[in-house]
Amino acid sequence: MSDYDRLFEPISLNGKLELKNRLVMSPMNMIMSDPEGFGDEQTQAWYISRARGGVSAVITEATVPINDDWHGTSHTVNARMSDLRYGRIFNELVRAVHDYDCKVICQLMTGFGYQGKHHVASGVPSAAPSAVAHKVDMRYSVRAFHKGLKSRFPEEMKLIDLDIVEGLSDEEYYPFENMVYDLIGERSPKIRSLIDGEIPRPLEHHEIVYLEDRFAEAALLVKEMEGDGVELHASHGYLGANFLSPRTNRRTDEYGGSLENRARHIVNMLSKARAACGEDFCIGIRISGDEELPDGMHHQEVLDVLGMCEPYIDYINTSSGCYDACNTMFPYEDNMMNRHAHSFRERFKLPVLVPGIHDPANAIKAIEEGVTDVVSLARAVVADPDWPNKVKAGRVEDIVRCTRCCNCLLSIFEATKVSCTVNPLVGYEKYLPENWPVNSPRHRRKIDRFLERRAGLYDSEGGS
Ligand SMILES: Cc1cc2nc3c(=O)[nH]c(=O)nc-3n(C[C@H](O)[C@H](O)[C@H](O)COP(=O)(O)O)c2cc1C
Repeated sequence: MSDYDRLFEPISLNGKLELKNRLVMSPMNMIMSDPEGFGDEQTQAWYISRARGGVSAVITEATVPINDDWHGTSHTVNARMSDLRYGRIFNELVRAVHDYDCKVICQLMTGFGYQGKHHVASGVPSAAPSAVAHKVDMRYSVRAFHKGLKSRFPEEMKLIDLDIVEGLSDEEYYPFENMVYDLIGERSPKIRSLIDGEIPRPLEHHEIVYLEDRFAEAALLVKEMEGDGVELHASHGYLGANFLSPRTNRRTDEYGGSLENRARHIVNMLSKARAACGEDFCIGIRISGDEELPDGMHHQEVLDVLGMCEPYIDYINTSSGCYDACNTMFPYEDNMMNRHAHSFRERFKLPVLVPGIHDPANAIKAIEEGVTDVVSLARAVVADPDWPNKVKAGRVEDIVRCTRCCNCLLSIFEATKVSCTVNPLVGYEKYLPENWPVNSPRHRRKIDRFLERRAGLYDSEGGS
């Protein structure tokens, strides 16, 4: 028995999906798709390398089920699942990952909502429930990115004493924010545009229904393309979350106002996906336990929303905060999402996933203390894809630790090419032969058999 054996016990996601262990890869958009949302051999190699590293499932990056320019994602580029062309590529990915006894859950997200930008080619603005623009609030966000920002903006960051900034009142804070954002904008217009948003176009009622139907179709496409499940992204200030939050949903029709109305879009997407995919297919939801903003969505409301979703879902993937308040979304220390995961687990009879744990000792503790059923690894497997296998082999000291500098995110925000300060191979996985689908264990067996038989041809008497 090793100290970590319980991490490697199998678990069933509500009887719909069997996982070989309690470690999955958390969804991460590494901006590897092309501008039309097509993945390629690099995307495949990225997922294969993490499957080889020992997780029981990869949850894909946020994947968009529509081609309409108002999805608002063209500035960062997201994968798509909007028609069979994408389904075919997804199927190749699924088969490659399955070769490592690893499942594939596709995270689906209908759009960037109020965090979106106008489409780079057509100029069409992003669409959201209401015409509210997003703006990152440093008081709730800057600690998460502090290390990475200090290396990029050394002079500007000298102005920011974390404790003082976090204690500022609105009257004190906003003039300070304007000054800092202007300085950042001079140095990096790209980062400025991401922290200080555009005003989105409010969605028409028929477009909301259209999104629900496209979501259900995409879920069915994932199922038919041999994916193991789908996850609705209702978190992080994207379109789904915009409907839920009173900050961003000012609608007066049946999709706005009361909590039931604000949850209607999410519940409809889930119920339509369930009807399309049947009872046996695994469907999960990603949701923040709290938006962590004074005027945002709070935990009790999140529990009530999950109560409405419960008939249609098989697991809850915990997150926290949103891009306007990302200290807990990209936690600067372990266990920051545990209290919400634990609360979900106490309230619902559904398996719970939680990220934000990088140290194996905290991972096993969270499982043993009943905080969560599954630990989902994000930046920890960016830094070291072999985190699970090393823990299983008792080689914890060999893990390359994530420093939480958030360079992975900042590099995407800046240049749309991901990189990691402790793992130089990030973004270059396709160059490693061990990540080529042709070198998977299944193909390896075929190749070995061929080589054996070919050798046999020459060994036999009279062979040519
Ligand atoms: C580069 C990057 C991209 C991410 N993209 C997504 C995404 O597409 N969907 C999602 O739900 N979360 C996304 N996340 C959030 C992670 O899934 C995870 O919740 C977060 O990083 C905190 O966990 P960690 O401390 O283990 O990294 C992303 C995180 C990173 C670092």
